[in-house]
Amino acid sequence: MDGKYLQFNGLLVPKETHSTESLKYAVEFQVHDDDVFGLTYPKSGTIWMQEILPLILNGGDLTPVQTIPNWDRVPWLEETRAALVLGDRSPPRAMVSHLPYNLMPSSFFTSKAKVIYVTRNPKDIAVSSFHFHKMASFLDDPGTFDQFLDKFLSGQVLFGKWTDHVKSWRDTDSDDRILYVTYEEMVQDLRGALGRMSRFLGRELSPEVLEKVANHCQFNNMKTNVMSNFSLVPKDLMDSSKSAFLRKGTTGDWRNHFSAEQEARFSAVIKKEMEGASFKFPWDDE
Ligand code: A3P
Repeated sequence: MDGKYLQFNGLLVPKETHSTESLKYAVEFQVHDDDVFGLTYPKSGTIWMQEILPLILNGGDLTPVQTIPNWDRVPWLEETRAALVLGDRSPPRAMVSHLPYNLMPSSFFTSKAKVIYVTRNPKDIAVSSFHFHKMASFLDDPGTFDQFLDKFLSGQVLFGKWTDHVKSWRDTDSDDRILYVTYEEMVQDLRGALGRMSRFLGRELSPEVLEKVANHCQFNNMKTNVMSNFSLVPKDLMDSSKSAFLRKGTTGDWRNHFSAEQEARFSAVIKKEMEGASFKFPWDDE
């Protein structure tokens, strides 16, 4: 480790965006019943949720997504910006977080706050994360793709192992206020996924508004939204000439990166760690 990360309960988080104070802020945060979280393991669709949540909560009004950068619009609970932007915001507050279930603030467990948990095929997450490590100077150099896969599988990456994260958010005491969505279904049928999300949040949208929101949240449209594509971040921190943050936005890109041996190794580890899980993912039988 070259000093770019902090440890938080055994999980790695980047110092550029997190501090001891910001993590304490998250732990002590007073969650309100009306608050809404977009919860993800990194590279599963977090900034997509930063686009979607305000649009659903504001009845399709595009103003927030066109005028406020994503990190202030829907801040990461555990990042340093949270204390700055959440302080004077009144509920319902939309936030994103990468925290595993057990590390959520204690007030979350006694609240009625809702969570949309988005997960994604871990092979595509590994690919997306590999490219992200190349463009973000505040992250470790990923090494070769093969080396990065080993780090990913052993949890020596941001927020630890993917398997621990997804298992932590399943079969919880809060299942009735968690909506489980996959990145894959969002890519396949964004309108349908948005419909489910808006009903879950008690903010059902008319077909016209749903259409407008779905259109705005399409990959190609988000890619050109300067409030969402990280082009406002200095190039020495995020260099989009190496890889864009909104990179491909597809499913199955892992097939362009994994060798047969890597695929077998990766699948074997994930399968073993998911043994006994009470749920299945669409990609389990690929
Ligand atoms: P790729 O690198 O595979 O393109 P996160 O926000 O959790 O860091 O996840 C980033 C991934 O989500 C990137 O994946 C990014 O392109 C993808 N993404 C973001 N917005 C998207 C959208 N509107 N449609 C499809 N994918 C999107």
